[in-house]
Amino acid sequence: MKSKIIGTGICVPDGILTNKDLEKKVNTSDEWIVSRTGIRERRRTRNDEASSDLAFTAAKRALKDAGLHLDQVDLILVATATPNMLFPSTACLVQGKLGLKNVPAFDVSAVCTGFIYGLATADAFIKSGTYKTILLIGVDTLTKFIDYKDRTTCVIFGDGAGAVIIKAGKEQGIIGSRLYADGSKWDYISLPAGGSRIPSYRADKSNYYLRMKGHDTFKVAVRGLGQAITELLKQCHASIGDIDIVVPHQANIRIIEALTRKLDYPPEKVFVNIQKYGNTSAASIPIALDEAVKSNRIKSKDIVLLTAFGSGLTWGASLIQW
Ligand code: UT7
Repeated sequence: MKSKIIGTGICVPDGILTNKDLEKKVNTSDEWIVSRTGIRERRRTRNDEASSDLAFTAAKRALKDAGLHLDQVDLILVATATPNMLFPSTACLVQGKLGLKNVPAFDVSAVCTGFIYGLATADAFIKSGTYKTILLIGVDTLTKFIDYKDRTTCVIFGDGAGAVIIKAGKEQGIIGSRLYADGSKWDYISLPAGGSRIPSYRADKSNYYLRMKGHDTFKVAVRGLGQAITELLKQCHASIGDIDIVVPHQANIRIIEALTRKLDYPPEKVFVNIQKYGNTSAASIPIALDEAVKSNRIKSKDIVLLTAFGSGLTWGASLIQW
């Protein structure tokens, strides 16, 4: 049994936050942000929009794209670091909104690597024969947890959701994945408040916001992504020359450029949309995947490499035949 992505869909909020808008909030400049990150604008949810709202719309679009009926879905996975609340899971909220009673649903927590972790989980469930049609959504609304007085984080993150439908079949699809974590570096990117260590009612304001050791993360990211890709290619008996397109997590254009140099891979075969959305965490790869497919950058039978890095620390890669 093999697992194949048969549909994609996205939902990004209407609100656009440009670099010029951020120049009014913190001591930064469009020139600094573009040259150091590649980001020109990002999307921001309204106060009354939560992760489940974006996830629900992306899911409906992916189902339509796959030409599937809702009742064919037999598992829902949501990769997110910004659930609506601590519990229940956002996957359950999406399940309820879709009206899919009895379909199991759970969240996957691997922050920016969440989509890769979710894809590997879905693939394992399909290959074991447990489920046949899985809805996997990557969604994050990190702008809700950003201190718009902190120039080192507020220029980076944006909101969005991307969904895929993964189906069991005989045709080649997900070839393999590799997942990694290093919990000793948990404090590189974290959001301390709201859990059992610092419940929100005991937290001071600084703990409500995302914290990032950007420079340290950058260095580990390039190494981790390189390791994930090299070991994945070895596992799949493939070489870098077999890859038609790389769809990386959109964290920083300089990380993507450093990675292509390290792998000696042609930059024009890497899909980049960071300029429009910034870093949308778990949504970044499924949004990029959907845009790459719909703009014909990914064609049937192409070999596609996905790779991501994020808080945990976590990192990983997946190889797919489209
Ligand atoms: O998706 C999850 C994984 N996350 C990542 O992969 C993030 C990885 N890290 C990064 O993308 C980069 O480290 C950043 C974009 C966050 C920062 O870029 P950097 O080139 O590593 O800058 P830096 O932190 O080394 O800071 C260099 C200077 C500092 O000033 P001084 O101390 O040299 O005077 C910063 O205060 O740039 C300053 N700076 C800024 N200046 C203008 C930091 N942020 C800004 C800003 N505008 N927004």
